[in-house]
Amino acid sequence: MRPIEIRDVSLIYETPAGNVPGVQSVSFQIAASEFVCIVGPSGCGKSTLLNIIAGFLTPTVGEIRIDGKAVTGQGQDRGVVFQDFAQLFPWRTALGNVAFGLEMQGMEKNRRETIAMEQLGLVKLEKFAQSYPHHLSGGMQQRVAIARALAYNPAVLLMDEPFAALDALTRDDMQRLLADVWRKTRKTVIYVTHNVAEAVYLADRVVVMTPHPGTVKTEVLIRLPRPRDPLSVEFLDYQRQLLQHLGQHAAAG
Ligand SMILES: Nc1ncnc2c1ncn2[C@@H]1O[C@H](COP(=O)(O)OP(=O)(O)OP(=O)(O)O)[C@@H](O)[C@H]1O
Ligand SMILES: [Mg+2]
Repeated sequence: MRPIEIRDVSLIYETPAGNVPGVQSVSFQIAASEFVCIVGPSGCGKSTLLNIIAGFLTPTVGEIRIDGKAVTGQGQDRGVVFQDFAQLFPWRTALGNVAFGLEMQGMEKNRRETIAMEQLGLVKLEKFAQSYPHHLSGGMQQRVAIARALAYNPAVLLMDEPFAALDALTRDDMQRLLADVWRKTRKTVIYVTHNVAEAVYLADRVVVMTPHPGTVKTEVLIRLPRPRDPLSVEFLDYQRQLLQHLGQHAAAG
């Protein structure tokens, strides 16, 4: 199983006001089926990096390799989930949203709807297959977005703060659900968050970035059995460790 390799990636945004670094000399690797979280201060370049891995942005320097092949654009080997609830098509049902990519591939209706229903089942939304996004809560919409990203059966799932706009209780539910989806599908996941508790709950390994212009500061392996207990001493120790790397010494919790 070949890893994802991020090799010395830098990106400069060219703006009318001048050049702005997005990320700077980022290098790390991710093994197949590994769950990696990227944490870092606001504006350090987490979204920029994820968008480069997704193929939405081209690095100014460096390259990304997946299974040994250089990324040159978007691809069905990567599914992407963003923070914004508006990422779904409002005029399509939950099922229609999840089946969209398969429809674009030319897959016939019965088959794509069967696959889309399976994915909705994975995120526990079978009963809402015929609902439109505006009739679903934020958490449900994000679950549809996850199901949609998984519908192609991509090897890699890229997520940019998918639960950041949810209330704390819903976010906890979503984290449990995502941990469960990951256990069942064993996708390679790259998950951006600024929430260290979320990172300790979900990740095999956390990549900590420096403030802008962001590069990798350090990596922390989370050696805790799953399902993880956010109230355990070990969990809080990891949280504290990450906060220290981020330069935030406030008590974890
Ligand atoms: N389209 C753009 N044009 C110019 N500069 C940009 C653009 N997008 C991001 N930047 C700049 O690049 C840097 C990294 O931004 P990015 O959005 O990747 O940070 P982030 O770590 O995701 O932040 P946050 O935690 O707030 O989401 C920031 O300094 C930002 O101002
Ligand atoms: Mg961001």
